[in-house]
Amino acid sequence: MAGMQEQEFIWKNGELIPWKDATVHVLSHALHYGTAVFEGARCYETADGGSECFRLLEHMQRLERSANMIMMPLPYSAEELAEATIRLIKACGLSRAYIRPIAFRGYNMLGVNPSANPIEVAIAAWPWDSYLGPEAIEKGIDVEISSWRQRSPNATPGAIKSSASYLNSGLANMEAIGNGFGEAILLNEAGMVAEGSGENLFAVRRGVLTTPPLSDGVLEGLTRASLIELAHDLGYEVREASMVRSDLYVADEVFFSGSAAELTPISHIDRRQIGAGRRGPVTKQLQEAFFDIVQGKNSKYDKWLTRI
Ligand SMILES: Cc1ncc(COP(=O)(O)O)c(C=O)c1O
Repeated sequence: MAGMQEQEFIWKNGELIPWKDATVHVLSHALHYGTAVFEGARCYETADGGSECFRLLEHMQRLERSANMIMMPLPYSAEELAEATIRLIKACGLSRAYIRPIAFRGYNMLGVNPSANPIEVAIAAWPWDSYLGPEAIEKGIDVEISSWRQRSPNATPGAIKSSASYLNSGLANMEAIGNGFGEAILLNEAGMVAEGSGENLFAVRRGVLTTPPLSDGVLEGLTRASLIELAHDLGYEVREASMVRSDLYVADEVFFSGSAAELTPISHIDRRQIGAGRRGPVTKQLQEAFFDIVQGKNSKYDKWLTRI
């Protein structure tokens, strides 16, 4: 499996340092107890030959919220972290990139309580094309409903984008891949549809879009929020409502949304064909509108772009 495309720099604790030097001590608190929060954002090439980062400040604001929820006040503001990202992207000479900010409890004292450990922040960026495969964007992927349940909001809240939460995602994703599927969908403890291991999810039936509400324990995805607004603007009714597994089976279209996965259609769930078994018309329309926006081709949504 191909690794990451290494770049010249990583931003760490206020400085640009060589990629290979951006290491942590093996006794760092986050490594042992999952005390890290992170983000995943994207920088796109725009049609006018420039680049932009999509909803960059909002990603950093979500990082700040995640950090505050685990009582880890960040030593940099969301604005400063957004500026640091731009500085990094320019220094690495990138025109398109996946962006991974992370804040974590570092090395000082081991034990469950993290308070005595330093708070470290880093940002990396490198080119990373469609997360679920380039073919998936058109053909869609086969997914399974996981035997693993979505972590409970009263245990490890989905609203906190913490490293700790992603063990749950990893279990579901490994199971799905092992069973020959492309990704997993998790149900929450109450049996309601939650999300993919790294994506939010939408179902389309008779022209109405439904996505699980945040109260079902899903991440407050920025792609999800963008698509809700975009679909409204295109004249669709969008509902944030709980769904059971069979609501997905009978949908005309189902798709994933996320900064990494962008808009990926789902062709089959548990070996049942969804709609026509490939990307449906609503998914296609939203995909095209979304890709136009991120390439700066629709000035109405320039508010979402940070030009580099
Ligand atoms: C579990 C999970 N849900 C949803 C999302 C989508 O969120 P966003 O659109 O902000 O990338 C992600 C990706 O970050 C994720 O990991």
